[in-house]
Parts: sequence; structure tokens; C-alpha cells
Amino acid sequence: MSPRDKNAPRDVDTPVIIAAKSDVTLAQKDNSNTKKVFIKTYGCQMNVYDSERMADVLAPIGYAPVDKPDFADLVILNTCHIREKAAEKVYSELGRIRNHKIKNKPDMKVAVAGCVAQAEGAEIMRRAPVVDMVLGPQTYHKLPEMIAKVHRKSGEVLETEFDTIEKFDQLPKTRSVKGFTAFLTIQEGCDKFCTFCVVPYTRGAEVSRKVQQIVDEARDLARQGVREITLIGQNVNAYLGEGPDGTNWGLGELIRHVALIGGIDRIRFTTSHPRDMDDDLIRVIGEEPKLMPYLHLPIQSGSNKILRAMNRDHTYAHYKELIGKIRAARPELALSGDFIVGFPGETDADFEDTMKCVREVGYASSFSFKYSIRPGTPGASMPRQVPEDVKTERLKRLQDLLYTQQQDFNQSLIGKTLSVLVEGTARKGSQLFGRSPYITGTHFDGPESLIGTIVEVKILEAGRNSLIGVLAE
Ligand code: 5AD
Ligand code: SF4
Repeated sequence: MSPRDKNAPRDVDTPVIIAAKSDVTLAQKDNSNTKKVFIKTYGCQMNVYDSERMADVLAPIGYAPVDKPDFADLVILNTCHIREKAAEKVYSELGRIRNHKIKNKPDMKVAVAGCVAQAEGAEIMRRAPVVDMVLGPQTYHKLPEMIAKVHRKSGEVLETEFDTIEKFDQLPKTRSVKGFTAFLTIQEGCDKFCTFCVVPYTRGAEVSRKVQQIVDEARDLARQGVREITLIGQNVNAYLGEGPDGTNWGLGELIRHVALIGGIDRIRFTTSHPRDMDDDLIRVIGEEPKLMPYLHLPIQSGSNKILRAMNRDHTYAHYKELIGKIRAARPELALSGDFIVGFPGETDADFEDTMKCVREVGYASSFSFKYSIRPGTPGASMPRQVPEDVKTERLKRLQDLLYTQQQDFNQSLIGKTLSVLVEGTARKGSQLFGRSPYITGTHFDGPESLIGTIVEVKILEAGRNSLIGVLAE
């Protein structure tokens, strides 16, 4: 995935490399002082943000990011534990890193960060002795200290404490960003304990950053040319942070405040839980023009029985009513969702309820997964686990429907004029590339001077994943 795509809706199974090409050249030319760090990011937006912040923490001690591990002084794998496949990828990558190290750079140091680090701790070093450091998602501000410890060879270097507030207080005040879009973490952790999910265990309890800290970071991003900010959190709409007046503010109030910042023209937020969609937030969705009309609101399953077993704490009827209210507030809003098929106890009839939900609600885009057993979660020990072939068959049927809806939604945009934030030139050819309010990649002809601006584009053609248009008169 190129840096240009880093803020696209995340296919959580595709890793992201944060270094831009120019950094590589710079770092590789200067062999004297600059050390090179290769950071590979797996998983969600939170990890993308964390990787950028790790690079910020490492810059003052002389590390510049590179986009290949081969000659790096330090390799960091920022890992994801959400599904078994994601977690296992880390070990195969560590095998490759070990070979690079032996062949190219025997003094290379290796760190495992993120949710696998949190969940497995020292076990990682036992299973993969190439690993020098293991650090959980709340500890990366301690990286310089940990690196020094590794170089001193003073034993096992493992940090998996939960101190989210300390982390945010200690991170560098200014971020080094490239491009015109950025993620900004406002909240971390989750108290919902969905029975399939490891997040409450790997990221800990819900913690919200202070309004002022978020506004300062958003201003710094705006100063560096960022025009679109995505406020992120595991459970972003549960945000409840201390406001400048000493009271706790919800997400709606925070968005109104961020929208006041000059230079920030587009705001998004993700990921939301249906239980935390309060009336004030729905009001802001309806009223705030800088907020993009695109909402990721996962339901996971359309069956009330499965929703209960998942501990989602709401019914399908509640979700539909909520969607009705949100659409009434903002008629042009498009929805995206997450779905899990094959949760323990899911019958054909339960699965049909999910298909019915998708048909009735209608999604512009979506992420759908086979249930993956996560050790330590209640789902792992539930009876009536669904056989793999049944999950595969259900996922195929669900995805056929979801992809058709995505294609239909994009087709419905043909003839419309959409605002597009121009992020750069297209990878192939001479066209410009940007994103529509619905985050769809949009291609059109125009001068490079438009990069970094928001232009109106009339949509002429639509595929499942991208749009083609012309600059509107
Ligand atoms: N198996 C499959 N999918 C999962 N998700 C979370 N945990 C699991 C699991 N054990 C999905 C949910 C969530 C998204 C981020 O990942 O759909 O919303
Ligand atoms: Fe996981 Fe549920 Fe929390 Fe989302 S709300 S992070 S799915 S436990």
C-alpha cells in the first residue's frame, strides 16, 4: 500500500509501510549519522497512527524511516491480534527478518509492537529469538529507553504496561506528517467486551484524551498542510474527554470544536458502536458541513440471538431505528459496516437475518470476516462452533451481496458532482488522484497545481473501488 493510500478504508489484513521513497534515498545516502528504521504496520487505523508516532519518537534519536527491512538498523513490526491469520503473519515475517539480519545486517535490532506484543509478551522472544524488544501499544513513548537497554544488552526488554495517559503526555508535541490527510487518535481501548473480540484485552479500558490535547494536535496537523482529519478510536463515539471548561465532552462537542480550526476542511471519525450513537452526535452529523457524509457503523450480525451471544447489547430493530434517525439528519450519508459470519451457534436462519439486514440497510462499503477463535475471549469456549466450510460458503454469499451494493452505490454517483481532496497523481498515467466524501478513490485530468486542494469533480464512470470523472465547470 503506498503512502498515498494510507488513509483509505483499511483492509486490516494488508500491511502498511509508512516510509516515503524520498526518506529512503535520504537515509541511505547518509550512512554516517542517520540510522534507519523500517516500520511495518498490520491491522487497523490505530496501528497506522501508532506507527507514525513511533517514527516521531525515534526521529530525535537519529532514526529515519525506510521502506525496506534489508539494511535497516531497527525493524519494528506493529502487529494486529484481531484474527488468527493476522497474528500468525507476524511469525512468518519474523522468519524473513531473521534471514535479512543474517545475510545483510547482523547488528540489526528487531522490535515487536502492537496487539500481538501485548497479548503474547515474552512468549514472542521465546518463539522467535531474533526479537530484541517487545512493546505493547501503550508503551512506545519508551522506545528510546528500550533501544538503549538493548544496546547495553541488559536482559529481556519487555514493556506491556497500560498507561495510555502517560503515553500521550510524553509523545513529541509535533508530528511529522506527509500529505493532506491524517489520523488522530482521540480515544483508546474498549469496555464493551464483545465476546469475539481481543481488543479489550490488548488495548485495555476506554481512555479519552483531553479536548485541548486533541485540538493542539489538530492545529499542528493543519499547520503542516493537513486538510482532512479522521478522529480515531477503538470505540470512538464513546469518547468522553475533559473539555477546557473542566466538564467531560462527548464526540459531538469535540467535532464542533475541531471544525473551528482553520485549514481543516474535512472531518471523519471511526470506529463507532451503535450503543454510543447519542442524539448530540446525530445532530452534529446533520449540521456540521465539515463532517463527511460517510459513517462506519458495524452491526456484525443481523440476528438478535447472535447479537446477544456477541454481547453487542442492542437488537437489529435498535440498529435500524438508529440508521433511520441518522439518515433523516443527513440524507446523503452513506454507510459502511463490519460483519462476522459463523459466530458460534449461528444457524442458517441467523445467517439469513444478516443477509436481510444488509438488503434492508444498504451499505456503500463494508468489511466482512469469518469468525476467528481468539484465545481468552468468551467466544472461544462457546459450544456449537461453526465448521470452516460453512463459514466459507456464508462469507462468499454475504460478500457477493455486499460487493454488489458497493458497485451499485458507486454507480449511483454517476452524473453527480462530488468534492474531491486531491492527494496526488495517479499511480498509472498522468491523472490526478483524490478521495470523494465517501472515501472512494477518484481519478480525473487536471494540473498538478491542484494537489492539496479540494475540487469539484463530475463523476462519469464507476467501478467497485474507484470513480473516474472530470473537473466540473
Ligand atoms: N473474528 C472475526 N472478525 C473479528 N472482528 C473482531 N474480532 C473478530 C474475530 N474474532 C472484526 C469485527 C470488528 C472488526 C474490526 O474485526 O467485525 O468490527
Ligand atoms: Fe472489539 Fe466490540 Fe470493543 Fe469493537 S466494541 S473493539 S468489536 S470489543
